[in-house]
Amino acid sequence: SIFKIAIDGPAASGKSTTARHVAHRLGFTYIDSGAMYRAITLKALRRNIQFESPSEMPHIINLANTSKIHFATTTPIGGSGNDNTPQTIVYLDDEDVSADIRTMNVSRNVSFVAALPEVRKAMLAKQRRYANSTDIDGVVMDGRDIGTAVLPDAQVKIFLTAITNVRAMRRYEQLKKKEKELVVYEEILRDIEKRDKADLERKVSPLRKAIDAVVLDTTTLSLSEIVGKIIEMTNN
Ligand code: C5P
Repeated sequence: SIFKIAIDGPAASGKSTTARHVAHRLGFTYIDSGAMYRAITLKALRRNIQFESPSEMPHIINLANTSKIHFATTTPIGGSGNDNTPQTIVYLDDEDVSADIRTMNVSRNVSFVAALPEVRKAMLAKQRRYANSTDIDGVVMDGRDIGTAVLPDAQVKIFLTAITNVRAMRRYEQLKKKEKELVVYEEILRDIEKRDKADLERKVSPLRKAIDAVVLDTTTLSLSEIVGKIIEMTNN
C-alpha cells in the first residue's frame, strides 16, 4: 500500500521545503495542496471574477470543478547552490503556472477561494486521487488540512510551526530572490497574518493540528534536523 506523510501548518512555516526534501530522500511523490488552491485563484483573477461578490461564487466553483491541475518534478542540472532537490512544476490546464501562483495578488485572495466548501470538495477529490494513484510507493502532501481531512489515514503526521516574524522574514527572502515583483516585508507579514486568521476561522476543514500529529518548531530546528526527524518517524 502507499505510504502517506501529511505535513500541515500555518503560512510560510517551511512546509513545502520540508516536504520536498523528505520526498526526495524517500523517493516519494510530493504534492503541494496549497498550489492547487492558488491555481484556481489565479484562474479566477485572470477572468476578472469579483471575489467576495455572492453572484460570482458559482463561477469560482465551476473553475474548481472543471480545471485540470497536475504536477511534475524536475531535477535541476548541476543544482543551484547545494540544493539539488527536485523542484515541483504546477500545471493549470497544461500551462506551467509555477511562478504565477506565487505572486502577492494570488496570496491575498487564495484564502477566500479556499474557504468555499464546494471548492474544497473538488480539491479534496483530486488530492485523494493523487495520493492513491497506484504507480507510487509513497506520497508527501503539505497543506492545512491534510492530517485532519484529506489523508486522515496518513502513517506520519507533522504540524510545522514557527513564530510569525520568522515566517514572514523567510517568505520575504524567498520572494526577493525571485524578483518577480517589488516585495515589502510589512506587506508579507500582513498577508501571512490575514491568511492564518482566515485559514483558522473558516467553517470547512480549518487549519488544525491533527490529534496524532507531531509538532515541530522550525524557529529552533534546522531544515536538516526536521527532515531527519521525519525520516526517523517513517522507519518506526
Ligand atoms: O500552502 P500555501 O501557503 O501555498 O497555501 C495557500 C492557501 O491555500 C492557504 O493560505 C490556504 O488558504 C489554502 N490552503 C488550504 N488547504 C490546504 C492548502 C492550502 O485551504 N490544504
